[in-house]
Amino acid sequence: MTKLDWPGGVIDDATSVTAIVKAAMAGTQDARLKEIVDALIEHGHAFLKQVRLTDAEFEQGLAFLRAVGQACNDRHNEVVLLADVLGFSTLVALLNNADASGRTPGALLGPFYRGGSPEYENHQCIACEGSPGAPLFVHARVLATSGQPVPNAMVDVWQASPVGLYENQDDSQPDRNLRGRFRTGVDGAFSFRSVRPAGYPVPTDGPVGALLAAQQRHPYRPAHLHFAIFAEGYATLVSQVFADDSDHLETDVVFGVNRRLIGRFEHHAAGTGPHGDQRDAYYTLDFDFILAEGTPTYPTPPIQ
Ligand code: BEZ
Ligand code: FE
Repeated sequence: MTKLDWPGGVIDDATSVTAIVKAAMAGTQDARLKEIVDALIEHGHAFLKQVRLTDAEFEQGLAFLRAVGQACNDRHNEVVLLADVLGFSTLVALLNNADASGRTPGALLGPFYRGGSPEYENHQCIACEGSPGAPLFVHARVLATSGQPVPNAMVDVWQASPVGLYENQDDSQPDRNLRGRFRTGVDGAFSFRSVRPAGYPVPTDGPVGALLAAQQRHPYRPAHLHFAIFAEGYATLVSQVFADDSDHLETDVVFGVNRRLIGRFEHHAAGTGPHGDQRDAYYTLDFDFILAEGTPTYPTPPIQ
């Protein structure tokens, strides 16, 4: 149908709106776009009818969305934060990146992923010189669902500091601190040194924070590390590993914790560590990531 073919329709009452709106869009050429917007209209209209949204509530909702957009800048993405606290991001991640194949489930990207992380050799440290916090030694393997190692995968890592701030939120950290890229070796392994991240509250100074307060929800995430793993012949895995002894594992404000993503952060007294002598107590994390076969994709960083 071309746009000239739509005969139009005059609306009698609330019951005729949905069909007329869908008919107006029937000429959408892109079949997937048509499927998505048709379902959005059907479910959106059903939602408006179910809650019988008042004029004042409609205005309030539109003002909320406007404020969400206005709260975004190059260093902060309130739209992603909204999708996260509503559970949308986790649902999409699991619909697309989890199945019975044995692969590691995906978890939301979050609003703090940045491109251009520094490249490191395995064993190097992603925390700047003199970073406070307990040392953390991560040793991980990237494997296929068959158990075979995946060599030469690119692994992007990012994490909050021991006070719970990403470097882009914290002027005391150098640019791209606690972010890095690694390559897996022939055995599929990669490793690095860092400092143990703390759990943290998501930003609450914008409209999403007001929503959380109205819902009497705490804003905390449990301590975690983010990983994005890219390898030829495999679907990209964007995921997180949570500290098993962290608070809020069961009440993550963005619903990211999956049982299979809880890693053992093992505490060790000072002594001989994985990278030599350790004057202070330290943690180790060993974790296997399992990739499904597929085509790599590259997420767009929500901030610069
Ligand atoms: C994060 O883990 O980086 C994150 C995810 C959702 C909201 C805020 C932060
Ligand atoms: Fe995070």
